[in-house]
Amino acid sequence: MERTGPLLFKEYPALKEKVPWIPLLTNVPTPVERLYELEKYLNFEKGQIFIKRDDINHHIYGGNKLRKFEFIFGNAILKKKKKAIVTYGGIGTHNGLASAVLCNKLNPPLKCDLFLYNQPLNWHVQRSLLLFDYFKAKLHLGKTDITTFVKALFFWIFHRKYEFILPGGSILFGRGTPLGVVGFIEATLELNEQLKSGQIPEPDLIFLANGTTGTAAGLVAGCKLLGLKSKVFAVAVYNDFLANASNLARNANKALKYLHKRDKTIPKIRVTLDDFELIEGYLGSGYGVKTIKGQNAVDTIFDLEGKTKGFNLETTYTGKAMAAMFDFLKKKENRNKNILFWNTYNSNDLDKYLKETDFQYKKLPKKFHKFYEEYKFQCWQITNCPEDIKKKCPAYLNHEYRFWKITDCKLDEKKQRKALEELGNIIKLEDA
Ligand SMILES: Cc1ncc(COP(=O)(O)O)c(C=O)c1O
Repeated sequence: MERTGPLLFKEYPALKEKVPWIPLLTNVPTPVERLYELEKYLNFEKGQIFIKRDDINHHIYGGNKLRKFEFIFGNAILKKKKKAIVTYGGIGTHNGLASAVLCNKLNPPLKCDLFLYNQPLNWHVQRSLLLFDYFKAKLHLGKTDITTFVKALFFWIFHRKYEFILPGGSILFGRGTPLGVVGFIEATLELNEQLKSGQIPEPDLIFLANGTTGTAAGLVAGCKLLGLKSKVFAVAVYNDFLANASNLARNANKALKYLHKRDKTIPKIRVTLDDFELIEGYLGSGYGVKTIKGQNAVDTIFDLEGKTKGFNLETTYTGKAMAAMFDFLKKKENRNKNILFWNTYNSNDLDKYLKETDFQYKKLPKKFHKFYEEYKFQCWQITNCPEDIKKKCPAYLNHEYRFWKITDCKLDEKKQRKALEELGNIIKLEDA
Protein backbone atom coordinates (compact mmCIF):
# COMPACT_ATOMS: atom_id res chain seq x y z
CA MET A 1 0.00 0.00 0.00
CA GLU A 2 1.41 3.40 -0.96
CA ARG A 3 2.23 5.61 2.00
CA THR A 4 0.49 8.95 1.89
CA GLY A 5 2.54 10.66 4.57
CA PRO A 6 4.67 10.17 7.64
CA LEU A 7 3.12 9.55 11.07
CA LEU A 8 4.30 13.04 12.05
CA PHE A 9 1.75 14.56 9.66
CA LYS A 10 -1.01 12.43 11.16
CA GLU A 11 -0.08 13.43 14.68
CA TYR A 12 0.60 17.09 13.86
CA PRO A 13 -1.39 17.96 10.70
CA ALA A 14 0.01 21.52 10.53
CA LEU A 15 3.38 20.05 9.57
CA LYS A 16 1.99 18.73 6.32
CA GLU A 17 2.25 22.02 4.48
CA LYS A 18 5.53 23.00 6.08
CA VAL A 19 7.79 19.98 6.20
CA PRO A 20 9.03 18.48 2.92
CA TRP A 21 8.73 14.71 2.57
CA ILE A 22 8.73 12.09 -0.16
CA PRO A 23 8.00 8.37 0.31
CA LEU A 24 11.14 6.29 -0.12
CA LEU A 25 10.89 3.49 2.43
CA THR A 26 9.21 0.45 0.98
CA ASN A 27 8.88 -1.72 4.09
CA VAL A 28 7.60 0.21 7.09
CA PRO A 29 6.79 -0.22 9.87
CA THR A 30 9.94 -2.30 10.19
CA PRO A 31 9.44 -5.43 12.31
CA VAL A 32 10.54 -5.71 15.92
CA GLU A 33 11.76 -9.22 16.66
CA ARG A 34 12.61 -10.90 19.91
CA LEU A 35 16.14 -12.30 20.22
CA TYR A 36 15.43 -15.47 22.21
CA GLU A 37 18.75 -17.15 21.44
CA LEU A 38 20.68 -14.10 22.59
CA GLU A 39 18.62 -14.00 25.78
CA LYS A 40 19.58 -17.62 26.44
CA TYR A 41 23.22 -16.97 25.62
CA LEU A 42 23.34 -14.05 28.06
CA ASN A 43 21.42 -15.93 30.77
CA PHE A 44 18.72 -13.33 30.65
CA GLU A 45 16.30 -13.40 33.51
CA LYS A 46 13.16 -11.29 33.58
CA GLY A 47 14.00 -8.88 30.77
CA GLN A 48 13.58 -9.30 27.02
CA ILE A 49 15.79 -8.35 24.08
CA PHE A 50 14.42 -7.13 20.74
CA ILE A 51 15.83 -5.87 17.49
CA LYS A 52 14.29 -3.14 15.34
CA ARG A 53 14.76 -4.33 11.77
CA ASP A 54 15.53 -1.04 10.05
CA ASP A 55 17.98 -3.08 8.01
CA ILE A 56 15.08 -4.07 5.74
CA ASN A 57 13.21 -0.77 5.53
CA HIS A 58 13.80 -0.64 1.76
CA HIS A 59 13.82 -3.48 -0.77
CA ILE A 60 17.25 -2.62 -2.21
CA TYR A 61 19.16 -0.75 0.45
CA GLY A 62 17.91 -0.67 4.02
CA GLY A 63 19.45 0.98 7.07
CA ASN A 64 19.34 4.33 8.77
CA LYS A 65 20.03 6.61 5.82
CA LEU A 66 16.71 6.22 4.04
CA ARG A 67 14.71 7.35 7.04
CA LYS A 68 16.67 10.60 6.92
CA PHE A 69 16.42 10.85 3.15
CA GLU A 70 12.61 10.87 3.07
CA PHE A 71 12.85 14.38 4.48
CA ILE A 72 16.23 15.47 3.05
CA PHE A 73 15.44 14.36 -0.49
CA GLY A 74 11.94 15.74 -0.04
CA ASN A 75 13.48 19.12 0.64
CA ALA A 76 15.94 18.84 -2.27
CA ILE A 77 13.41 17.68 -4.84
CA LEU A 78 10.10 19.28 -3.84
CA LYS A 79 11.28 22.57 -2.37
CA LYS A 80 14.61 23.30 -3.98
CA LYS A 81 13.94 21.54 -7.32
CA LYS A 82 17.43 20.06 -7.34
CA LYS A 83 18.42 17.59 -10.04
CA ALA A 84 21.52 16.10 -8.44
CA ILE A 85 23.15 15.18 -5.15
CA VAL A 86 26.69 15.66 -3.94
CA THR A 87 27.91 14.13 -0.71
CA TYR A 88 31.15 13.05 0.86
CA GLY A 89 32.52 10.37 3.18
CA GLY A 90 35.09 7.60 3.55
CA ILE A 91 35.66 5.25 0.60
CA GLY A 92 33.19 2.77 2.14
CA THR A 93 30.54 5.37 3.06
CA HIS A 94 27.04 3.99 3.65
CA ASN A 95 25.67 7.47 3.18
CA GLY A 96 27.28 7.51 -0.27
CA LEU A 97 25.92 4.08 -1.14
CA ALA A 98 22.41 4.93 0.01
CA SER A 99 22.58 8.17 -2.02
CA ALA A 100 23.84 6.32 -5.11
CA VAL A 101 21.10 3.66 -4.90
CA LEU A 102 18.33 6.16 -4.37
CA CYS A 103 19.44 8.63 -7.02
CA ASN A 104 19.61 5.75 -9.47
CA LYS A 105 16.16 4.40 -8.60
CA LEU A 106 14.20 7.64 -8.41
CA ASN A 107 11.95 8.49 -11.29
CA PRO A 108 13.39 10.54 -12.92
CA PRO A 109 16.84 9.57 -11.59
CA LEU A 110 19.14 12.16 -10.01
CA LYS A 111 22.83 12.53 -10.69
CA CYS A 112 25.01 11.57 -7.75
CA ASP A 113 28.60 12.70 -7.14
CA LEU A 114 30.58 11.19 -4.26
CA PHE A 115 33.70 12.81 -2.82
CA LEU A 116 35.64 10.12 -0.99
CA TYR A 117 38.62 10.00 1.36
CA ASN A 118 40.73 7.15 2.67
CA GLN A 119 39.52 4.96 5.51
CA PRO A 120 40.92 1.63 6.73
CA LEU A 121 40.69 -0.67 3.76
CA ASN A 122 38.91 -4.02 3.84
CA TRP A 123 36.69 -6.10 1.60
CA HIS A 124 33.63 -4.18 2.73
CA VAL A 125 35.18 -1.00 1.31
CA GLN A 126 36.28 -2.68 -1.91
CA ARG A 127 32.78 -3.89 -2.59
CA SER A 128 31.24 -0.50 -1.73
CA LEU A 129 33.36 1.21 -4.37
CA LEU A 130 32.20 -1.29 -6.99
CA LEU A 131 28.59 -0.75 -5.93
CA PHE A 132 28.87 3.06 -6.11
CA ASP A 133 29.88 2.58 -9.71
CA TYR A 134 27.20 -0.04 -10.38
CA PHE A 135 24.55 2.44 -9.24
CA LYS A 136 26.11 5.07 -11.51
CA ALA A 137 27.53 7.49 -8.97
CA LYS A 138 30.45 9.60 -10.14
CA LEU A 139 33.50 9.12 -7.90
CA HIS A 140 36.10 11.68 -6.82
CA LEU A 141 39.03 10.79 -4.56
CA GLY A 142 40.50 13.29 -2.10
CA LYS A 143 43.49 13.02 0.22
CA THR A 144 42.24 13.65 3.74
CA ASP A 145 38.76 14.06 5.17
CA ILE A 146 39.20 17.83 5.44
CA THR A 147 40.66 18.45 1.98
CA THR A 148 38.01 16.19 0.45
CA PHE A 149 35.30 18.13 2.22
CA VAL A 150 36.70 21.39 0.85
CA LYS A 151 36.84 19.87 -2.66
CA ALA A 152 33.21 18.78 -2.39
CA LEU A 153 32.23 22.22 -1.15
CA PHE A 154 33.91 23.93 -4.09
CA PHE A 155 32.24 21.52 -6.49
CA TRP A 156 28.89 22.39 -4.96
CA ILE A 157 29.53 26.14 -5.10
CA PHE A 158 30.07 25.85 -8.85
CA HIS A 159 27.23 23.37 -9.49
CA ARG A 160 24.13 24.90 -8.00
CA LYS A 161 21.67 22.35 -9.33
CA TYR A 162 23.26 19.93 -6.82
CA GLU A 163 22.03 19.48 -3.26
CA PHE A 164 24.86 19.06 -0.76
CA ILE A 165 24.16 16.26 1.73
CA LEU A 166 26.43 16.49 4.76
CA PRO A 167 28.08 13.28 6.08
CA GLY A 168 25.53 10.85 7.42
CA GLY A 169 22.74 13.23 6.38
CA SER A 170 23.29 14.94 9.73
CA ILE A 171 23.93 18.40 11.09
CA LEU A 172 27.67 19.16 11.15
CA PHE A 173 28.92 21.44 13.95
CA GLY A 174 25.59 23.21 14.10
CA ARG A 175 25.42 23.71 10.31
CA GLY A 176 22.98 22.06 7.95
CA THR A 177 19.42 20.85 7.98
CA PRO A 178 17.83 19.05 10.96
CA LEU A 179 15.64 17.06 8.52
CA GLY A 180 17.72 13.89 8.89
CA VAL A 181 17.15 14.01 12.64
CA VAL A 182 13.43 14.57 11.98
CA GLY A 183 13.52 11.25 10.07
CA PHE A 184 14.35 9.52 13.34
CA ILE A 185 11.76 11.42 15.36
CA GLU A 186 9.39 9.92 12.81
CA ALA A 187 10.96 6.50 13.51
CA THR A 188 10.16 6.92 17.20
CA LEU A 189 6.52 7.53 16.36
CA GLU A 190 6.59 4.28 14.43
CA LEU A 191 8.07 2.48 17.43
CA ASN A 192 5.41 4.04 19.65
CA GLU A 193 2.67 2.53 17.47
CA GLN A 194 4.31 -0.86 18.01
CA LEU A 195 4.37 -0.28 21.77
CA LYS A 196 0.72 0.75 21.78
CA SER A 197 -0.30 -2.35 19.85
CA GLY A 198 1.61 -4.54 22.32
CA GLN A 199 4.16 -5.89 19.82
CA ILE A 200 6.90 -5.18 22.32
CA PRO A 201 7.04 -3.86 25.87
CA GLU A 202 8.38 -0.36 26.25
CA PRO A 203 12.18 -0.68 26.16
CA ASP A 204 14.15 0.49 29.17
CA LEU A 205 17.12 0.99 26.91
CA ILE A 206 17.69 1.44 23.20
CA PHE A 207 21.19 0.61 21.93
CA LEU A 208 22.52 1.93 18.64
CA ALA A 209 25.66 3.05 16.84
CA ASN A 210 26.44 6.74 17.02
CA GLY A 211 28.47 8.32 14.22
CA THR A 212 27.48 11.81 13.14
CA THR A 213 24.79 11.70 15.90
CA GLY A 214 21.79 12.25 13.59
CA THR A 215 20.16 8.88 14.18
CA ALA A 216 20.61 8.88 17.95
CA ALA A 217 19.57 12.55 18.20
CA GLY A 218 16.28 11.74 16.46
CA LEU A 219 15.55 8.81 18.77
CA VAL A 220 16.41 10.81 21.90
CA ALA A 221 14.25 13.74 20.75
CA GLY A 222 11.43 11.39 19.76
CA CYS A 223 11.44 9.54 23.08
CA LYS A 224 11.34 12.85 24.95
CA LEU A 225 8.55 14.23 22.77
CA LEU A 226 6.44 11.11 23.30
CA GLY A 227 7.22 10.90 27.02
CA LEU A 228 8.70 7.40 26.72
CA LYS A 229 10.81 6.10 29.56
CA SER A 230 13.24 4.46 27.09
CA LYS A 231 16.77 5.74 27.48
CA VAL A 232 18.94 5.80 24.37
CA PHE A 233 22.44 4.31 24.75
CA ALA A 234 24.40 5.79 21.85
CA VAL A 235 27.67 3.93 21.28
CA ALA A 236 30.37 6.18 19.84
CA VAL A 237 31.81 4.70 16.64
CA TYR A 238 33.33 7.92 15.36
CA ASN A 239 35.94 10.22 16.87
CA ASP A 240 34.97 12.34 19.84
CA PHE A 241 35.05 15.66 17.99
CA LEU A 242 31.82 14.59 16.25
CA ALA A 243 30.21 11.70 18.13
CA ASN A 244 30.06 13.52 21.47
CA ALA A 245 27.20 14.09 23.90
CA SER A 246 26.81 17.85 23.55
CA ASN A 247 26.71 17.55 19.77
CA LEU A 248 24.02 14.88 20.07
CA ALA A 249 21.90 17.01 22.44
CA ARG A 250 22.34 20.12 20.28
CA ASN A 251 21.23 18.25 17.15
CA ALA A 252 18.21 16.78 18.92
CA ASN A 253 17.22 20.26 20.08
CA LYS A 254 17.69 21.76 16.64
CA ALA A 255 15.20 19.25 15.21
CA LEU A 256 12.68 19.80 18.04
CA LYS A 257 12.91 23.56 17.53
CA TYR A 258 12.42 23.12 13.77
CA LEU A 259 9.20 21.17 14.37
CA HIS A 260 7.89 23.48 17.11
CA LYS A 261 8.41 26.50 14.85
CA ARG A 262 6.17 24.89 12.23
CA ASP A 263 3.51 23.59 14.58
CA LYS A 264 3.05 25.37 17.88
CA THR A 265 1.04 22.46 19.29
CA ILE A 266 4.32 20.56 19.50
CA PRO A 267 5.55 21.27 23.02
CA LYS A 268 8.65 23.36 23.47
CA ILE A 269 10.95 20.82 25.08
CA ARG A 270 14.71 20.53 25.40
CA VAL A 271 16.92 17.48 25.47
CA THR A 272 19.60 17.57 28.16
CA LEU A 273 22.66 15.41 28.75
CA ASP A 274 20.67 13.42 31.34
CA ASP A 275 18.22 12.19 28.71
CA PHE A 276 20.61 9.67 27.13
CA GLU A 277 23.92 7.90 27.64
CA LEU A 278 26.89 8.26 25.35
CA ILE A 279 28.95 5.06 25.56
CA GLU A 280 32.64 5.32 24.76
CA GLY A 281 35.45 2.77 24.62
CA TYR A 282 34.42 0.70 21.60
CA LEU A 283 35.88 2.75 18.74
CA GLY A 284 39.42 1.33 18.74
CA SER A 285 42.06 3.70 17.40
CA GLY A 286 39.68 5.33 14.95
CA TYR A 287 36.71 5.27 12.63
CA GLY A 288 36.36 2.07 10.62
CA VAL A 289 39.06 0.18 12.52
CA LYS A 290 38.16 -3.44 13.24
CA THR A 291 38.26 -4.36 16.91
CA ILE A 292 38.30 -7.82 18.45
CA LYS A 293 35.18 -7.10 20.49
CA GLY A 294 33.37 -5.68 17.46
CA GLN A 295 34.27 -8.67 15.27
CA ASN A 296 33.27 -11.09 18.04
CA ALA A 297 29.93 -9.35 18.44
CA VAL A 298 29.31 -9.56 14.66
CA ASP A 299 30.15 -13.27 14.62
CA THR A 300 28.24 -14.14 17.79
CA ILE A 301 25.02 -12.38 16.87
CA PHE A 302 25.14 -13.86 13.37
CA ASP A 303 25.51 -17.39 14.71
CA LEU A 304 22.83 -16.92 17.37
CA GLU A 305 20.23 -14.91 15.49
CA GLY A 306 21.28 -13.37 12.16
CA LYS A 307 21.66 -16.67 10.33
CA THR A 308 18.03 -17.60 10.87
CA LYS A 309 16.49 -14.12 10.83
CA GLY A 310 18.49 -12.86 7.83
CA PHE A 311 20.64 -10.05 9.14
CA ASN A 312 24.36 -9.53 9.53
CA LEU A 313 26.08 -6.69 11.34
CA GLU A 314 29.39 -5.12 10.30
CA THR A 315 32.49 -3.98 12.18
CA THR A 316 32.44 -0.18 11.68
CA TYR A 317 29.10 0.68 13.30
CA THR A 318 26.64 -1.97 14.40
CA GLY A 319 29.23 -4.54 15.57
CA LYS A 320 30.72 -1.99 17.96
CA ALA A 321 27.26 -1.04 19.25
CA MET A 322 26.45 -4.71 19.78
CA ALA A 323 29.78 -5.23 21.59
CA ALA A 324 28.85 -2.44 24.02
CA MET A 325 25.42 -3.99 24.53
CA PHE A 326 26.99 -7.41 25.27
CA ASP A 327 29.26 -5.89 27.92
CA PHE A 328 26.34 -4.04 29.50
CA LEU A 329 24.19 -7.15 29.59
CA LYS A 330 26.91 -9.33 31.04
CA LYS A 331 26.30 -7.53 34.34
CA LYS A 332 23.71 -9.47 36.32
CA GLU A 333 21.84 -6.36 37.46
CA ASN A 334 21.07 -5.43 33.85
CA ARG A 335 19.48 -8.73 32.90
CA ASN A 336 16.01 -7.85 34.07
CA LYS A 337 15.65 -4.93 31.67
CA ASN A 338 13.83 -4.69 28.36
CA ILE A 339 16.33 -3.90 25.64
CA LEU A 340 15.95 -2.81 22.04
CA PHE A 341 18.84 -2.95 19.59
CA TRP A 342 18.22 -0.59 16.68
CA ASN A 343 19.74 -2.15 13.58
CA THR A 344 20.98 0.69 11.39
CA TYR A 345 22.79 -1.42 8.78
CA ASN A 346 21.36 -2.72 5.52
CA SER A 347 20.93 -6.48 5.32
CA ASN A 348 19.44 -6.86 1.85
CA ASP A 349 21.49 -8.91 -0.55
CA LEU A 350 23.76 -6.58 -2.52
CA ASP A 351 25.96 -9.39 -3.71
CA LYS A 352 23.64 -10.01 -6.62
CA TYR A 353 24.48 -6.52 -7.93
CA LEU A 354 28.12 -7.01 -7.12
CA LYS A 355 28.22 -10.20 -9.17
CA GLU A 356 27.05 -8.19 -12.15
CA THR A 357 30.14 -5.98 -11.79
CA ASP A 358 32.24 -9.14 -12.14
CA PHE A 359 34.90 -7.41 -10.03
CA GLN A 360 35.85 -5.17 -12.95
CA TYR A 361 37.45 -2.58 -10.72
CA LYS A 362 39.31 -1.11 -13.68
CA LYS A 363 36.04 0.52 -14.69
CA LEU A 364 36.46 2.82 -11.69
CA PRO A 365 38.50 6.02 -12.11
CA LYS A 366 42.22 5.15 -12.20
CA LYS A 367 42.96 6.66 -8.79
CA PHE A 368 40.86 3.93 -7.17
CA HIS A 369 42.66 0.93 -8.73
CA LYS A 370 45.28 0.86 -6.00
CA PHE A 371 42.60 -0.17 -3.51
CA TYR A 372 42.35 -3.48 -5.36
CA GLU A 373 45.91 -3.98 -6.56
CA GLU A 374 47.79 -3.36 -3.34
CA TYR A 375 45.39 -5.01 -0.93
CA LYS A 376 43.72 -8.38 -1.26
CA PHE A 377 41.24 -9.61 1.30
CA GLN A 378 39.42 -12.54 -0.21
CA CYS A 379 40.84 -16.01 -0.78
CA TRP A 380 40.13 -15.83 -4.52
CA GLN A 381 42.03 -12.55 -4.77
CA ILE A 382 45.06 -14.09 -3.10
CA THR A 383 45.18 -17.42 -4.88
CA ASN A 384 44.26 -15.90 -8.21
CA CYS A 385 41.68 -18.61 -8.59
CA PRO A 386 41.08 -20.06 -12.06
CA GLU A 387 37.96 -18.51 -13.62
CA ASP A 388 35.91 -21.72 -13.73
CA ILE A 389 36.50 -22.48 -10.05
CA LYS A 390 36.06 -18.87 -8.98
CA LYS A 391 32.75 -18.27 -10.72
CA LYS A 392 31.15 -21.29 -9.09
CA CYS A 393 32.56 -20.66 -5.65
CA PRO A 394 30.12 -19.37 -2.98
CA ALA A 395 32.91 -17.15 -1.60
CA TYR A 396 33.36 -15.25 -4.87
CA LEU A 397 32.14 -11.67 -4.38
CA ASN A 398 30.17 -12.79 -1.38
CA HIS A 399 29.70 -10.39 1.47
CA GLU A 400 32.35 -11.05 4.14
CA TYR A 401 32.20 -14.76 3.39
CA ARG A 402 34.99 -16.47 5.28
CA PHE A 403 37.22 -18.65 3.18
CA TRP A 404 37.66 -21.10 6.02
CA LYS A 405 33.92 -21.57 6.24
CA ILE A 406 33.80 -22.82 2.66
CA THR A 407 34.12 -26.53 2.78
CA ASP A 408 33.93 -27.33 -0.90
CA CYS A 409 36.87 -25.25 -2.15
CA LYS A 410 38.14 -26.81 -5.36
CA LEU A 411 41.70 -25.56 -5.01
CA ASP A 412 44.36 -28.01 -3.91
CA GLU A 413 45.15 -28.07 -0.24
CA LYS A 414 48.52 -26.34 -0.56
CA LYS A 415 46.96 -23.29 -2.20
CA GLN A 416 44.16 -23.23 0.34
CA ARG A 417 46.65 -23.26 3.20
CA LYS A 418 48.72 -20.49 1.64
CA ALA A 419 45.61 -18.31 1.22
CA LEU A 420 44.63 -18.92 4.82
CA GLU A 421 48.05 -17.90 6.05
CA GLU A 422 48.05 -14.74 3.97
CA LEU A 423 44.55 -13.80 5.07
CA GLY A 424 45.59 -14.32 8.68
CA ASN A 425 48.32 -11.74 8.19
CA ILE A 426 46.08 -9.22 6.52
CA ILE A 427 43.08 -9.14 8.81
CA LYS A 428 44.45 -7.46 11.89
CA LEU A 429 42.15 -6.75 14.80
CA GLU A 430 42.64 -4.23 17.57
CA ASP A 431 42.22 -5.07 21.23
CA ALA A 432 39.46 -2.59 22.09
C1 LIG B 1 25.28 1.24 9.52
C2 LIG B 1 25.32 2.55 10.21
N1 LIG B 1 24.95 2.64 11.48
C3 LIG B 1 24.99 3.81 12.17
C4 LIG B 1 25.45 4.96 11.56
C5 LIG B 1 25.54 6.20 12.38
O1 LIG B 1 24.50 7.06 12.11
P1 LIG B 1 24.66 8.60 12.44
O2 LIG B 1 25.71 9.12 11.52
O3 LIG B 1 23.34 9.17 12.18
O4 LIG B 1 25.10 8.70 13.85
C6 LIG B 1 25.85 4.93 10.20
C7 LIG B 1 26.32 6.14 9.53
O5 LIG B 1 26.89 6.13 8.48
C8 LIG B 1 25.78 3.69 9.52
O6 LIG B 1 26.16 3.59 8.23
